[in-house]
Amino acid sequence: MNFNQNRHIYFTGFMASGKTRVGRALAKRLERDFIDTDQLISERTGKTITEIFQEEGEAVFRKMEYDLIHEIAEDPVPKIISLGGGSLTQSAVVTAIHKSGLLIRLWAEENVLSERIARKNTRPLMIGLSPEERLEKIRTMLAEREVYYKLADFSVETSDASSEEHITEHIMQLLRFWDTHALNVETKSGERYPIFIGHQLADTAGVLLEGLRISPSHSFLVCTDSNVAKAQANKLTQLRYQAGGCPVFKFRAGEVNKSLSSLNQLYTFMLRRRFTRKTCLLQFGGGVVGDMAGFGAATYQRGIPFIQIPTSLLSMVDSSVGGKVAVNHPEGKNMIGAFYQPRAVICDLDALATLPESEYLSGLAEIVKYGVIYDAEFFALMEENISAIRAKDSGFLTQLIRRSCEIKAEVVGIDEKETGLRAILNYGHTFGHAIEKITNYNRFSHGIAVGLGMRVAGRLAVLCELWSKEDERRVQKLLDAIGLPAIFDVDTEEAWNAMGVDKKAEKNSRVYILPTRIGAVRKIPNIEKELVDKAWDAIRNPSNPGER
Ligand SMILES: NC(=O)c1ccc[n+]([C@@H]2O[C@H](COP(=O)([O-])OP(=O)(O)OC[C@H]3O[C@@H](n4cnc5c(N)ncnc54)[C@H](O)[C@@H]3O)[C@@H](O)[C@H]2O)c1
Repeated sequence: MNFNQNRHIYFTGFMASGKTRVGRALAKRLERDFIDTDQLISERTGKTITEIFQEEGEAVFRKMEYDLIHEIAEDPVPKIISLGGGSLTQSAVVTAIHKSGLLIRLWAEENVLSERIARKNTRPLMIGLSPEERLEKIRTMLAEREVYYKLADFSVETSDASSEEHITEHIMQLLRFWDTHALNVETKSGERYPIFIGHQLADTAGVLLEGLRISPSHSFLVCTDSNVAKAQANKLTQLRYQAGGCPVFKFRAGEVNKSLSSLNQLYTFMLRRRFTRKTCLLQFGGGVVGDMAGFGAATYQRGIPFIQIPTSLLSMVDSSVGGKVAVNHPEGKNMIGAFYQPRAVICDLDALATLPESEYLSGLAEIVKYGVIYDAEFFALMEENISAIRAKDSGFLTQLIRRSCEIKAEVVGIDEKETGLRAILNYGHTFGHAIEKITNYNRFSHGIAVGLGMRVAGRLAVLCELWSKEDERRVQKLLDAIGLPAIFDVDTEEAWNAMGVDKKAEKNSRVYILPTRIGAVRKIPNIEKELVDKAWDAIRNPSNPGER
């Protein structure tokens, strides 16, 4: 495990939830120093916390707490820290904690907390209360603090006080899972969820389900498609086992089934089996499963939690991150949908072993897209590592997936609902979606259509004099080297009409995302049809008229 090498572990939780006891036990197990922030402040000032509050006021205490946590956060020697009750009310403290380590919330049943508090009888806020009053006070305080406890990366139950070893062992399992933590997605609306990238993660997801506190009071439903259910049968069995032997909803694979009809089947399945709002969906599949069942989660009984467990490369680097969920309508792709963020994304690289080659290429196209729109160095890294890409080198793939998720998370973090920056992710998509539509969604995988679309967008950028022919050639060359298709002859009228019902088409205008150099794109509205028609030459068969 790498975890204990460099990161602090902070504990938060209600009084008597076990922060000191569990913190000390974990410190012993990991051979780290243990710090109780309240205790250390008391030692340093020679006063109890109550005395500091009474004599100097809460603001002075909060400043002391802020300074201490920043001091700890910057300490390179990893520690176990028990935080005081109100520490998380300061957003700068929360930022320092998240940057320097893992935040674990300890919790216990309300009546257990009440009994523990009564036994000690030293908590100033609880002295003199009857058992009923104490329980009521605990309930009120927990409800008030929930907003802060939600900031924790994991929650761990400590109701069963006798099994300290069991609790520590459970935390150790969470830490092992956390070793595969790549990043968090954080949106402006306050959503925050982790992305994990590693091996055998679906098979061990139970620990995460518990750590994210969507277990045990939740029931689970795995959603998957017919291909994934067959190709990944063992992993699916493991996943069900991890989720308490839950049922599986399976629908026929393929873009045409990302439909209202499949969605309705999902609703019916869930309603007939009496799934309540305390259900968590586990989306085990590619982008079609993630989008369709994600929209199911967004709408079933006005919204239930879901976790993305992407099994295609494209869904790992793109569709499972960012909270866009949708189904297609005969009038257009992704026309019925929502912005609805998952609770976590688990990229289990082992799933890629059964992914058809064309689907691998499809994911690679989206990865190239990130280089073109956002990160010239990332683009160059791919140019230099073609053989590792083609050989599906696991280490290099992890790097590619991680950086792609980082870029997507960064963009989505700034613009969750696509009012501005997020549109850059659509580079290649206006043309790609048109290709998919013209071919009835059954000739090219989504990413492959986007790869073709990027070639067209690259040519259009040359025709609009936004970037150089040399840049266009570099992109074409990388796509070629990876093995992405380069040819598709379109009827330009048909393509023009197909582009009209793209979501990215704004009223009375068409907006194109075009590159200005490798690593940057711009939104360009209303380009003359003649130029757009000409740009399709980029993917025309060279034996047909038009320049390549
Ligand atoms: N929500 C978003 O932000 C977003 C972004 C990009 C794409 N998308 C959507 O994602 C979809 C494309 O995703 P996709 O490319 O994953 O398509 P997909 O889900 O159809 O998967 C591609 C094919 O591979 C199969 N498959 C998936 N994983 C497999 C595995 N491990 N082993 C064997 N077979 C496997 C699937 O059954 C399917 O046949 C499109 O509908 C697109 O609109 C959404």
